[in-house]
Amino acid sequence: MTKINKRTVNKRTNSKLSDRSKPSIIGIDLGTTNSLVSFVRNQSPRIIPNDRGSRTTPSVVSIKSDQKVIIGEMARNQAVLNADNTVANIKLSMGTGQTYHLNDHKYLPEEISGLILAQLKDHAENYLGCEINDAVITVPAYFDDNQRRATMQAAAMAGIQVKKLLNEPTAAALAYGAGKDRPDSKMLVVDLGGGTLDITLMEYKEKVFRVLAVGGSTRIGGVNFDKKITDYILNDFKDTHSWDLSTDNVALQQLVIQAEKAKIDLSSATDTTIMIPYITITEKGPLHLNISFKRNNFEELIASILHEIKKIIISTFTKCGLEPAWVDSVILVGGSTRIPAVEKMIMDIIDPDGVRRKTGDLLKKTINQDEAVARGAAVMAGILSGELDDIEFHDITSHDLGILNHEEQFETLISAGSVFPMEITRLFTTAHDNQEEVTIQVMQDRGRNSSKNLVPLGSFNLCVDKAQKKGTPNIDVTFSIDMNSILTVSAIDLDTQKNAKISINYEFVKPVK
Ligand SMILES: Nc1ncnc2c1ncn2[C@@H]1O[C@H](COP(=O)(O)OP(=O)(O)OP(=O)(O)O)[C@@H](O)[C@H]1O
Ligand SMILES: [Mg+2]
Repeated sequence: MTKINKRTVNKRTNSKLSDRSKPSIIGIDLGTTNSLVSFVRNQSPRIIPNDRGSRTTPSVVSIKSDQKVIIGEMARNQAVLNADNTVANIKLSMGTGQTYHLNDHKYLPEEISGLILAQLKDHAENYLGCEINDAVITVPAYFDDNQRRATMQAAAMAGIQVKKLLNEPTAAALAYGAGKDRPDSKMLVVDLGGGTLDITLMEYKEKVFRVLAVGGSTRIGGVNFDKKITDYILNDFKDTHSWDLSTDNVALQQLVIQAEKAKIDLSSATDTTIMIPYITITEKGPLHLNISFKRNNFEELIASILHEIKKIIISTFTKCGLEPAWVDSVILVGGSTRIPAVEKMIMDIIDPDGVRRKTGDLLKKTINQDEAVARGAAVMAGILSGELDDIEFHDITSHDLGILNHEEQFETLISAGSVFPMEITRLFTTAHDNQEEVTIQVMQDRGRNSSKNLVPLGSFNLCVDKAQKKGTPNIDVTFSIDMNSILTVSAIDLDTQKNAKISINYEFVKPVK
């Protein structure tokens, strides 16, 4: 595997910030499509622009034949023409062990993400004029233990120490403030980005954010909307010019870029024009593409995708037995929630007759949808570094956690609402004479002591001293949850010192694919 070297920083002498306002920890939104880096200054979160002056950096990496690494906008712009040596959407493969062959070198997803993180760190250091080693990095709430560890490895490869992995919906909610002035709220966070949809039902009560349910899809996002427009134009071009552009890579690349631009235009304008002169040359001469496109056309094209999103939102409510009317704040996150039809569809679920929308502040979108997660990461960084001292933040467990005893009954080790990081140990023993091993079945109790709500999280075996009578071995079972929401359950036979363990992100099951 190719290793990543730590970058040396050219500290600017004409630093833009005085030492007092230099942050010690930055926030990073490592997105599937776009990544952002942020920090806190004068008590408020700010986005750090990249070397091109953009606030977002495409999460795209390309390796050239001379092994030169290209990241961001430049990598994205050449992606279609250099598809074999370019990787996008790497976040979806984190923790899978899948390898990527780019110009004769093998890379793991962690390494690709590490390259993006190194670039973001570099932008931050250049902008701030100082070396930065610590970051808060955001991850989807449903990221499991593997994916969380992979994210930390990626950071380590980039020379970043992760101060905390923060769940994206919590980050978005934090961007809207926390602490003494924030009223309790019942939130629906919809994050529709470039390639993924994440739905979170969350509560803020007594200064604590609690995630109640997550849902989503790793196959729905802005690219699906772009594809609908692209397909429409390809068909229209075929009808008009009897010419198929779909096999022409150069034309297609331009078309995909223009389709996305048109989509973005239609979030604020009701019509737009897609114009690409000399899109192709035929034996009869050059052909130009010139199509006008209305918001109505676009909404018709994406109706089936909107319907799919609606179904996923409703099923997230069903999962935790809540009604849409329970929600008192809707937080929209991700560039694709800027599409008016997306916003309307979501608000129609929560507020079918449109009454609540007119009065209170049901809809939160005062913060740029594609910056909310990064701003929340900066807030968290500020809390951890002490720069924001009037904000309280606690991570708490949403459910009871424990193991099954030999009678298949649930024994709670950690109760719902416990603040973590934390660790707890309880003593167990065997149920039979000459028992060779015990099985530790880790469970989550989603409802108060009702056995049908028990969700298995994982299990492992521990060998014990076979010569012992039942009830004699001393087996310590320890549950510990770290600040990145990783639960480690370990067991040790105190007499033989044999031990075994398992790590889990205990809160969430993966969203439907
Ligand atoms: N004004 C807009 N109207 C419609 N779509 C937009 C607008 N601005 C950005 N987008 C779309 O938002 C998407 C990128 O969103 P965002 O930057 O939030 O993604 P991400 O967080 O990297 O991705 P993901 O959530 O899939 O991990 C792109 O598909 C882009 O075209
Ligand atoms: Mg995102």
